[in-house]
Amino acid sequence: MPYYSDDVIEEVRSRNDIVDVISQYVHLQKKGSSYFGLCPFHNEKTGSFSVTPGKQMYYCFGCGAGGNVFTFLMEYENFTFSEAMEALADRAGIELPKQEMSGQARAEADKRNQLFEINREAAKYFYSLLRSEKGKHAMDYFTKRELSKETMQKFGLGYSDKYSDDLYKYLRSKGYTDEVLKDSGLISIDERRGAHDKFWNRAMFPIMDANNKVVAFGGRVMGEGEPKYLNSPETMIFNKSRTLYGLFLARRTKKDQFILCEGYMDVIALHQAGFDNAIASLGTALTSGHANMIKRYGKDVYLSYDSDGAGTKAALRAIPILKEAGITCKVINMKPYKDPDEFIKALGREAYQERIDNAENSFMFTIRILQQDYDMKDPESKTKFYQEVASRILEFQDELERNNYIEAVADKYQISFEQMRQMVNRLGTKVGLTSEKKPLKSGVQKKKTREDGMMQSQRILLTWLVEHPGLYQKLKAYIEPSDFTEGIYQQVAEELFGQFAAGQELNPAKIVSMFSDEEQQRQVAEIFNTSVEGIEKQADFEKAIKETLIRIKQNSMEQRRKALDASDMAGWNQIIEDKRRLQEMEKLHISLN
Ligand code: UTP
Ligand code: MN
Repeated sequence: MPYYSDDVIEEVRSRNDIVDVISQYVHLQKKGSSYFGLCPFHNEKTGSFSVTPGKQMYYCFGCGAGGNVFTFLMEYENFTFSEAMEALADRAGIELPKQEMSGQARAEADKRNQLFEINREAAKYFYSLLRSEKGKHAMDYFTKRELSKETMQKFGLGYSDKYSDDLYKYLRSKGYTDEVLKDSGLISIDERRGAHDKFWNRAMFPIMDANNKVVAFGGRVMGEGEPKYLNSPETMIFNKSRTLYGLFLARRTKKDQFILCEGYMDVIALHQAGFDNAIASLGTALTSGHANMIKRYGKDVYLSYDSDGAGTKAALRAIPILKEAGITCKVINMKPYKDPDEFIKALGREAYQERIDNAENSFMFTIRILQQDYDMKDPESKTKFYQEVASRILEFQDELERNNYIEAVADKYQISFEQMRQMVNRLGTKVGLTSEKKPLKSGVQKKKTREDGMMQSQRILLTWLVEHPGLYQKLKAYIEPSDFTEGIYQQVAEELFGQFAAGQELNPAKIVSMFSDEEQQRQVAEIFNTSVEGIEKQADFEKAIKETLIRIKQNSMEQRRKALDASDMAGWNQIIEDKRRLQEMEKLHISLN
């Protein structure tokens, strides 16, 4: 961690009991030694989300989300690690040492804070202008667009004055320097012309991050004019490809999907009509950064891009990006209207809900648009179309899924199921992905399965070591951290074995904090929350421990042997010694008593 020492991090962590903290967000019920509730990171009805006080960790058996109390706040509140530290230190009444930040880190944090403040001040300034005499014209504009007072307030809408430097003067009067104002993106400072506001005489839309902090603005001309919308440039606190307009509201939705649209007004109109799950990527193309954010909220997507050519193109680009992130996406047809805002104004919310209910599967949408480029009356062009469709169907890994799409295509595009299926299979054979009769598992897949099995074995042993602390004494002669060969498992084992060896009380949650990456923190939680089905009797359990131990040992020996240089005599002797130990282990009786 860049800012705080391990000791401080550990103090803050240990003084915030994970059950207490998570209980503020999730209703938890005790079952055995853990607490369970509905997972806040994916939609479910069963309660796969567990919080274990003994480990001070949470883990969802449904979606795999997991970590310690820091991870939870980072995931749930979208906090950075430092923000999670501050919130939890505050909660426990711990004063964080300021001097621990390096000079540069401190300067950067200060700057970020100032930029947040400046944007908030500007938002308040625009907000009150809109509601003053000077803002009457803008107020009329918003009212004409049928926004209620409540909606305007919810989205913090405002107005920027006709003068080209009044925001500048206002912010200077609040004590901000030219240097930081320049970096806010709201003011441009020119040697010859002096300071200028970026926005003037525009209807203002503050852009909030997921935590409801203003990070930028969009400003619309009221009437005709170019550009229609002017937006803040990217700054230290505004990264376009990681910002989704409306997310600060939509993240609280109970629905399983977000409605993804293009513009400010679309999001606002949808929320006003009761669709509390609308977000927008704001004129920039959807990025994998956006898709991963959506994924983190566990949502699928209804795409509600403009129905014109540009909107359709943008949808065709967004679909594979969403798919890549594992998000299911359906496309809403808004014809004959251009965008959700116009649609709802014309036909109302029930009609829009109907369009949601009838949203088109994204694959079927893609090939429907594709077909427009082919002349279906011309046999050659028609054949090419089917070939293109076949090659796209081949991208589905699963045979059943492929067959379902073949069926859907056959239903719609004047071709029989059998013909389409043959086309797909023939093409598949040609490119080596599938065969006529049975889709062959590729070598890659097979290898992956074996690795998965080994990872599972290593995880389960680490979980057992934590859940049965007496085990360590019995196993320590046979296994060491370097036997854990997969990913971060070795680091985790080293730390855990270190805790055992030092005779400390076990502290798996501390191990989570060794990693700054949220995905790695999740993996640590996964490692310590592995379970296997069907072991009930103690004798079975003891046998399972032994078999797992041997499997892990064989694997690490095998890996070492492969990496060994032929001339490395000491290495070969070690292998022989390991083999002997392995035989010993096979005779071992591990008792839990
Ligand atoms: P649209 O042109 O579809 O505008 O741009 P809109 O959302 O329907 O706006 P209204 O209804 O005319 O007010 C979609 C989005 O693209 C970005 C904005 O985020 C806008 O909401 N955009 C558009 C710009 O950033 N600059 C522009 O000049 C135009
Ligand atoms: Mn519009």
